[in-house]
Amino acid sequence: MRDKAEDVFVRRFPEVLAIGWEGWDRHSRNVATVAERIAGACGMDADKAYALGLLHDIGKSVSTPDENMTHHLTGYDVLMAEGMPEAARIAITHTFYEGQEMDHFWDIMARNGYAERTQKLLAEYQPFDDYDRLVQLADNMATSWGITTVENRFCDIITRHLLPNPGKNVKVLCGLRDYFSEKCGQNVYSLFRSDIEQTIFM
Ligand SMILES: [Fe+2]
Repeated sequence: MRDKAEDVFVRRFPEVLAIGWEGWDRHSRNVATVAERIAGACGMDADKAYALGLLHDIGKSVSTPDENMTHHLTGYDVLMAEGMPEAARIAITHTFYEGQEMDHFWDIMARNGYAERTQKLLAEYQPFDDYDRLVQLADNMATSWGITTVENRFCDIITRHLLPNPGKNVKVLCGLRDYFSEKCGQNVYSLFRSDIEQTIFM
């Protein structure tokens, strides 16, 4: 699965570049690294985690920055066409943290007609499994310039997207951090001590 993920990633990269997603490759590789390392520490399949992390934002090879609210659906379509249903699932679930209402996000999608298809797919993927949760966490510990804490990464997200109710998002993401810390028997941030230090002090 890891080799196939690399192949899809490299093939799609020119399209992402042409669309103009700055730092997509570095963010995707950082998400893959976070997912791989936490998976390894938790006894999950680290290669599978890497592959799922690498491909989670592949929809950005189709959706432009103005169409960011569709990248989960375009990613799903790309990965189903590639015969990768597990990665297609992650393309959908990575955006929707468990228990998160995301009112702002749903309003925008409803206006554009994407909410119904998204809700149908999300319903199929309930309950979320540990790979869904892992990529949700990894996506929020990885920027395009490094690996960091959820708390630090979320400051960047809040200021870029101007989320109206960030407290809810942070609460769920910190819950994921604690869930994997317990599963690994150590604070997950300790797996990335030097990466986090480098990112925060850069
Ligand atoms: Fe992402």
